[in-house]
Amino acid sequence: MVKITNRTVFIVGGTYGIGRGLAQRFVDAGNTVIVGGRSPKTQGERGTVRIDVTDPDSILRARDQVLEAHPDLDVVVTMSGAMITEDLRDPAHIAATEVTIATNLLGTIRVIDAFTPHLIARGSGTILTVSSGIAFLPFPLMPSYGASKAGVHAYTESLRAQLAGTGIEVAELVPPAIATAGQEKINPAALPLDTYLDEVMELLAAEPTAHEILVKGVLMHRWAERDGTYAELVERRSQPLNTLPNR
Ligand SMILES: NC(=O)c1ccc[n+]([C@@H]2O[C@H](COP(=O)([O-])OP(=O)(O)OC[C@H]3O[C@@H](n4cnc5c(N)ncnc54)[C@H](OP(=O)(O)O)[C@@H]3O)[C@@H](O)[C@H]2O)c1
Repeated sequence: MVKITNRTVFIVGGTYGIGRGLAQRFVDAGNTVIVGGRSPKTQGERGTVRIDVTDPDSILRARDQVLEAHPDLDVVVTMSGAMITEDLRDPAHIAATEVTIATNLLGTIRVIDAFTPHLIARGSGTILTVSSGIAFLPFPLMPSYGASKAGVHAYTESLRAQLAGTGIEVAELVPPAIATAGQEKINPAALPLDTYLDEVMELLAAEPTAHEILVKGVLMHRWAERDGTYAELVERRSQPLNTLPNR
């Protein structure tokens, strides 16, 4: 992405987890940061805007509120995400699919649509999407999640091509497992949030025009197909399916 100082940044999904941590890093680096989310608990905090990315009206209200207070807004981060495990042998999993796609994929697309006209009119800005290592290397316990994040990756690639020449940069954050959102309890390999954010900020500073923000811990996911490790890794990552009923 990105010059990372003197920007005005809206992190949608910045009330908890990676988004909240990134918001603090951006503040520390000399940026103005607004965070968005649904949770009423954080609504009283300064710079927090209520937004539900599964609700198109809510997105437009949040957009208007943010742009009225910050007409110089020039960075939008689409961090909101739902991570849900599913048992595809039970058709009831579709409820999880619906939430996942509505939040992670449609939500990302709608938030970008809400801000694109503003950024085009400014003639500069940055859109930072958030996919996952799972976009590139499945974790079979989370099929719709993987599909949504592969969708975010593919969409980001086309968005960048369509916005070429407008002055808007498009970059993609590709986190590996991070010790947030309950990962810290179930995944001992999850990276501590601060370790992850240290590396992200270093990468942003060192390579401001990178299309993808790839910390070392996600390279094995990102390049598994190229490196010939894909089949073996998918098999290994299928082991947790044993935790599902009747397996
Ligand atoms: N943690 C990981 O291992 C990992 C790995 C790869 C990628 N990622 C991705 O990184 C992003 C952040 O994950 P995280 O671990 O920080 O998760 P988290 O701690 O659960 O935070 C998720 C954020 O998204 C917001 N959110 C969820 N549903 C929303 C909705 N409908 N509308 C608006 N905001 C919504 C939440 O705020 P409210 O609850 O206030 O709405 C919260 O701020 C997600 O896109 C996730 O898929 C995470």
